[in-house]
Amino acid sequence: MLFLGVLLGLCLLGAVAQRLDEDLRSFVTLPEVRALRFNITYVDREQVSPGYWFVAPYGQVDPEEPTTKYMQYQVGPYIYDTDGELIWAGSPVTDNHNTFDFKANWNIDGDPHLSFIVQHEYDRAEGKGKGVIMGNDYELEREVGAASDFDAFNIHEFKILDGGKTALACTTKPRQIGLGDFDRPEEESWVIVGGFVEIDLEKSEILVEWDSYDKLSITESVKFIQEDEVLGEPGWDYVHINSVDKNSDGDYIISMRFTNTIYLVSGQDGEIMWRLGGKESDFEQDFNFTRQHDVKFVKTNSTHHVISFMNNAADELHTEAEITSALFVELDINSSPMTATVINRMNHPGGNFTRFGGNIQELSNGNVFVGWNEQGYMTEYGPGGDLIMSAHFASTRYASYRSYKFDWIGQPTAPPDLVASVYGADEQEMITVVHVSWNGATDVACWEFYARSHEHGSDVLIASTDKTSFETMYITEGFMDWMTAKAIDVHGNVLGVSEVCRSEVPDWEAVGFTGESSHPTPDDPEILQNIREKLDSGDYGDLYDETTTDEDRKAAVYHATTEVADSVYKAYGMIQMLENITIGVLTIFCIGGILAGVWYIRRRKMRSYQHLPTDEAAVEEDAAKAD
Ligand SMILES: *[C@@H]1O[C@H](CO)[C@@H](O)[C@H](O)[C@H]1NC(C)=O
Ligand SMILES: *[C@@H]1O[C@H](CO)[C@@H](O)[C@H](O)[C@H]1NC(C)=O
Ligand SMILES: *[C@@H]1O[C@H](CO)[C@@H](O)[C@H](O)[C@H]1NC(C)=O
Ligand SMILES: *[C@@H]1O[C@H](CO)[C@@H](O)[C@H](O)[C@H]1NC(C)=O
Repeated sequence: MLFLGVLLGLCLLGAVAQRLDEDLRSFVTLPEVRALRFNITYVDREQVSPGYWFVAPYGQVDPEEPTTKYMQYQVGPYIYDTDGELIWAGSPVTDNHNTFDFKANWNIDGDPHLSFIVQHEYDRAEGKGKGVIMGNDYELEREVGAASDFDAFNIHEFKILDGGKTALACTTKPRQIGLGDFDRPEEESWVIVGGFVEIDLEKSEILVEWDSYDKLSITESVKFIQEDEVLGEPGWDYVHINSVDKNSDGDYIISMRFTNTIYLVSGQDGEIMWRLGGKESDFEQDFNFTRQHDVKFVKTNSTHHVISFMNNAADELHTEAEITSALFVELDINSSPMTATVINRMNHPGGNFTRFGGNIQELSNGNVFVGWNEQGYMTEYGPGGDLIMSAHFASTRYASYRSYKFDWIGQPTAPPDLVASVYGADEQEMITVVHVSWNGATDVACWEFYARSHEHGSDVLIASTDKTSFETMYITEGFMDWMTAKAIDVHGNVLGVSEVCRSEVPDWEAVGFTGESSHPTPDDPEILQNIREKLDSGDYGDLYDETTTDEDRKAAVYHATTEVADSVYKAYGMIQMLENITIGVLTIFCIGGILAGVWYIRRRKMRSYQHLPTDEAAVEEDAAKAD
C-alpha cells in the first residue's frame, strides 16, 4: 500500500502547502518560481476570443532595496492560458525585477515575439533598466537601454512599431524652467519634463526625440500651480507622460496624466497639432476625462481618428469623478469645431477606481480586453460591450500595470524540465514519482516517459499521459532511473526531449530499507515492460475482470515473470559465459515480487495518476477510497 500511502502523503502535503501559500503555485520542476493564481469568472465562455493572458505582476511599483534574503521569483513577465493555467514564468529571466508593458508582437517579421521593460535597479547607477525583445523560443533577441542623458528606461511604454525597425518609449528629464507663465518672471524652478523617443532597434539609436520643455506651459498642469513654491532637482512632475503611439501619418499621440490632456504631436516639426481634454481642449466634447492612461490609435483616416484610453478619473491622492472607465472615442477633425464622441464605454467592473495604470485593447474578433491594474484585474467584453469574463489574481498583494491578451505560440529552446524521485523501503514495493513541465511551450498535448536500466542502456517507453496542467505528474511502479520525457503535440510530433534525469533516492538507511543489499538498484524497465505487456496481452486471461480471483492474478504474474525471466536468463547466460557476470539473474527474480505487489495496487486503482488533486475535497475522496 506504499503506492497509495505515498500518493495520500503527497496530496496532504500539497493541501497543507496550499493553505500556507494559497494564492501562489509552486512546482517541483521550477522550484525557484512562485506563480500567481487567478480567480476567474466567465459570464459567456463561448464569446471569449482565443488567446493567452500576458501579465507582469509586481508587488510595489518602485524597485525594492537590495536584500540578501532568499526570495522566490514572483514578479516579472508571465503568460497564462484563459483557464488561468501557467504557460510561461519569465521571472527567472528578469531576476526579480519589476517588468512592465509585457506583450506579444506579431508585427515584426511574421514570427511572434515578446517584448517588455525591465525596471531600473534600486540604485540607478547600477542599471537604468531596458527594453527587451525575445523570440518565441524565449531567447533574447535585442535589448535597448536608456540613452545616456536619461536616468532610466521609462516604465510606461515600449511599443514596437510595424515592421519591427523602431520602437517608442516615454522619457523624463529634470530641467530648470522660468516661471513667467505664472507671472513670476524672476523665478525658476526644477520640473520633470515628459517626452518620448523613437528608437532604431537595430542600432539602438534615438531617431526622434521630443519633450514638453518648450511645448507645454506650466499653466496646463494640475500638479504644479501658481501658488506652488520653487523646487530643486528633480522638481515638479508637472506633466507626467504615460503613453505614446504613432499613426500612419507619422504623427504621435501622447498622454499627459497631470495635464488631463491627450496631445497630437506633429511628426514633421514636433508642434502640438491639437489638444483633447484639459484646460485648452480643441474639441467640442460631451464628456470629460482625467488622469488618463494608455492612449492608443485604433483607426485613422483623413477626417477621423478613433482612439482608446482609460479614463482613470482619480489618482493616488484625488478622486475626480464617480468611476474609472475604458473609452473608445471618435474624433472628427474635419468638422468645425472638431468634435470628440464616446463610442464605447466600459466601466470599472467593481464600480471603483484604477488610480494609476490600466490599459485597453481591441482584440481581432472585435472583443475588448481591459487591464485595471490593481490585483491584476482584467475583463473581456463582447462586441456589444457586454462583460463576458473577469479575472484577477487570487492575491491582493500584486498588481499588473498593463494586462493584455494575444495569440501565442511558444517553442522554447531550453528542454523540458524533469524531476523523478523514488519511494519505498522494500525492494518489492518501490515506486517512482515523475514531474515534468516545459516552461513556455504552448503546444504540448501529451508526455511520454522513458527509463533506462543503466546509464548507457536504451530508452524504454514506460508510460504516456496527457498534459493536464503546467506541470504533469506521473507515478510508475518500480525503481526507474535515467529517465527522460518527450513532449508530443496533437499530431504526434515530438516537440522536445528532456535531458536524462537520475532519480532522486531517499536515505535508504533512514527509511529502513530492507532488501538483498544495503540499497536497491534501478529496475530494468525493459523487463518490467515485457512482463506488463504479457499480462496485458490477455494470454493469462482478463485480469481486470471482476470475476478473476487474486489467486489467478498471482499465478498469471508468476507465469509471465518466469517466462520473461527465462528469455532474459538465456541472454544473460551468454554474457555470463563471456564475462562471468552473475548479477542479472537475481534482479529478475525480485521483479516477480514487485509485480505481485504492484498487482494488488492495480486492482484497486486501475488508472494512472497524472497529477495531484489540489483541493481538499479530492484529498478526502482519495482518503475515503484508500479506507
Ligand atoms: C466637463 O467639465 C466641465 C468643467 O469642469 C464642466 O463644466 C462640464 O459640465 C463637464 N462635462 C460633463 C459631461 O461632465
Ligand atoms: C473615416 O472614418 C470614419 C469613422 O471613424 C468614417 O465615418 C468615415 O467614413 C471615414 N472616411 C473615409 C474617407 O474613409
Ligand atoms: C473602492 O476601492 C477602495 C480602495 O481603493 C476601497 O476602499 C473601497 O471600498 C472600494 N469601493 C467599492 C465600492 O468597491
Ligand atoms: C479568490 O478565490 C478564493 C477561493 O474562492 C478566495 O478564498 C479568495 O479570497 C479570492 N481572492 C480574492 C482576492 O478575491
